[in-house]
Amino acid sequence: MSMNGNIVLIGFMGAGKTTFGRWISENLHMRYIDTDEYIENGQGVSINEIFATKGEEFFRDLETKCLLKLNENIESTVISMGGGMPMRKENQKLMKNIGLVVYLRAPEEELVKRLTGDSKRPLLKGENLAGKIHELMEKRESTYIEMADLILDTKDKDLNQMYNEIEDFMAK
Ligand code: S3P
Repeated sequence: MSMNGNIVLIGFMGAGKTTFGRWISENLHMRYIDTDEYIENGQGVSINEIFATKGEEFFRDLETKCLLKLNENIESTVISMGGGMPMRKENQKLMKNIGLVVYLRAPEEELVKRLTGDSKRPLLKGENLAGKIHELMEKRESTYIEMADLILDTKDKDLNQMYNEIEDFMAK
């Protein structure tokens, strides 16, 4: 197992970080933290509300603060990170420091399917979902890859198969 026994899940919105993170924590009796939930609980309002009233930069500062807090003391925990977390330079070292970083990769067509009708992601509001996803992905993918200790392709895999890949990786 990695450094402190923590698993950090990164990847685009809709990649399944929350579903998979919860599943791992239940099956392996690990703790679970979702950075979006952590921030929403701390602020007492939704991510949408934070973006709308305080703006994206304010939200990004909250993300960095969340990471700093997690760096203080964390073990045997699965952490699902918001999709934009790895993009801030100062977050990168903090993230890597927490544990094994796993990039959950999904093809854009799949993300479009999963995110159609979603109302919880402020960055995807409005017209042309596929275009928005494409544009953001272009900016982010190389960073997701660079940050990852392990890249996990999620397409057509169930959660069990996905976890087996993490286990195989850790056994090496
Ligand atoms: C964001 C992803 C969201 C949330 C916020 C911004 C992003 O988290 O943090 O809406 O910039 O990709 P999920 O990846 O859990 O949807």
